[in-house]
Amino acid sequence: MNFDQIIERRGTHSAKWDNMEAFSGISPDEGIPMWVADMEFRAPEVVQRALQKMVDHGIYGYYGGNDSYLDAVQWWAENRHGWLPPREGIYVTNGIVNGLQLCLQAWTKPGDGVVIFTPVYHVFPRLIRAQERVAVECALVQRGDRYEMDFDTYESQMTGNEKMLVLCSPHNPGGRVWSPEELQQVADFAKRHDLILVSDEIHCDLTLPGHTHTAMTRVDPSIMDRLVMMTSATKTFNLAGGHVGNVIICDEKLRRDFAKALASFGGSQNSFGQVMSEAAYSPEGAEWLDALLVYLAENARIFEEGVNAIPGLQVQHLEGTYLAWVDFSGTGMTPEEVRTRIKDAGIAVNDGISFGKGGEDYQRFNLATQKVRVEEVVRRMRAAFSDLQ
Ligand SMILES: Cc1ncc(COP(=O)(O)O)c(C=O)c1O
Repeated sequence: MNFDQIIERRGTHSAKWDNMEAFSGISPDEGIPMWVADMEFRAPEVVQRALQKMVDHGIYGYYGGNDSYLDAVQWWAENRHGWLPPREGIYVTNGIVNGLQLCLQAWTKPGDGVVIFTPVYHVFPRLIRAQERVAVECALVQRGDRYEMDFDTYESQMTGNEKMLVLCSPHNPGGRVWSPEELQQVADFAKRHDLILVSDEIHCDLTLPGHTHTAMTRVDPSIMDRLVMMTSATKTFNLAGGHVGNVIICDEKLRRDFAKALASFGGSQNSFGQVMSEAAYSPEGAEWLDALLVYLAENARIFEEGVNAIPGLQVQHLEGTYLAWVDFSGTGMTPEEVRTRIKDAGIAVNDGISFGKGGEDYQRFNLATQKVRVEEVVRRMRAAFSDLQ
């Protein structure tokens, strides 16, 4: 577990490194990639051993025998998050985006409104629009160094055409770990407007010390007939290429609807993703994760202190995820100028505008990298905005 070790990823089919120049115009030879939400760390040994066993066996046929995977999902949810998912309500998809697409298919039709709290993971609005649904962007409000929800405003945005709410919990970008009270407000809102509530909890394990994630299933028993929860080991343990996710549903009727959408999708299970995830959802995986969270918290501290010291820049305080959301509005610069300065500094980031309404003045930085790189990014940012200091 050496998170300080620099591991070469160029030329390994890494989206973050091998698509960087095309995406940002920054060469991976000099630049530092802080975009795509995966990590620069090797997955835990327990995962490597499980994969090695597959390689030694050497046969890569279709996956079957789901029981041990479901055991692992249940064990993890109960031990890390204090709730036991119903075994027969766990559907395995080819990742969370795939799960969301199936939810849209199961419970909405073209033209229906889907509520999202923006800025939010850029794939939500993209997917909603690609499915010809309407993304109803309910803007989060920045209070101090964190986002909050503003239900009075959201009430006035509802037209009656909305059928679904997609929540990102913890929140990407912005790094909020929503409190039980905030989640109760979301549940009440979903009930009031008769919305299916899809809670994307892919970042649920990535809470920094001092913050606790609350699974949506624990918030309000009266929403089980409208709740769909999504979890995955892929973000937690850096297994994103394994493309596997869990869609967890308690209600019988919702299960039937989802099973129908899943059957029409025609996909089948990804053996690599499931073998890796099953191995990771274990005591050894938990130990690795605890060490990772301490490392990420230190990276967040270095980044927040360093970047907040530049006048006009403000980092939203990271409670969860490893994605730092930086507000440049205090610089008085146009987003174009901010983008140019960061690009010229050789830092590849995600542009705030892609996360929807409210993201215009922000840039997202991925801190799941070696500490020396975070320190170097802080140095480059100081130099890029030196005229403000
Ligand atoms: C909120 C959220 N949901 C889903 C995903 C991607 O999930 P998957 O790779 O399982 O499709 C991400 C990746 O960053 C994310 O941040």
